[in-house]
Amino acid sequence: MSRIGVFDSGMGGLTVLEELQKVLPNENFIYYGDHENCPYGTKTKEELFLITSRIVDFFERLGCSVIVIACNTATTLCMKDLRKKYPHLIFVGTVPAIKVAYDKGYHRTLIMVTPATIASERTKELLQDYHRPDQELYLVACDGLAQAIEQKDDILIEKLLVRDLSKYRMMEIDSVVLGCTHYPWIKDKILKVLPGVAFLDGANGVAREVKRQLEMHHLENEGEPVYPPVILDSLDFKR
Ligand code: DGL
Repeated sequence: MSRIGVFDSGMGGLTVLEELQKVLPNENFIYYGDHENCPYGTKTKEELFLITSRIVDFFERLGCSVIVIACNTATTLCMKDLRKKYPHLIFVGTVPAIKVAYDKGYHRTLIMVTPATIASERTKELLQDYHRPDQELYLVACDGLAQAIEQKDDILIEKLLVRDLSKYRMMEIDSVVLGCTHYPWIKDKILKVLPGVAFLDGANGVAREVKRQLEMHHLENEGEPVYPPVILDSLDFKR
């Protein structure tokens, strides 16, 4: 039986898992929420490569041949190196949906990401490749936000959003790239600071890419899924 491993530093990647289940209702998913190492967004590339390699080893032992990095930080920092280290596995990752903003013709786009994602080479490449002359892009490193979401600390989330986004209120922002998979959980709170913006994220693109990879490699699950998604939390292994 083939299984698809999906991971993030916590609950963020569940927003991607939801989309994966919609697009691929027959597949068996294992979701790993790495709370123990949350947040990823303040880690170095080296630290994150060690952490993500351990998760990949774990998924491999469980028989996964397709691994979804449901985290923009881990994808932008580590996916290239993980592909080199594990050439026999198929990796699909999520990057900030800068291309979606470009394709859809938005003019003033705010890109919310973690501090590590903002500093990554992959993000620089995306900004170079998908930037029209008639388009303003504003990058914001939302330090501490993913962790506040993980802790469900509504007061802190609102404080951080005011700190990071309120200066863009007067700039007629038309779209917000949710460049961290935790951020779709707080769309309502972002709208309070930036009313009327359109939200863009990579979840549907990831699900379609996984479908394409499964078809290309003939890895689709033919029958009914054997299990509902298995949700594992790294802290469970410590208790
Ligand atoms: N959800 C992750 C992302 O997409 C990581 C957030 C974090 O742990 O800092 O970037």
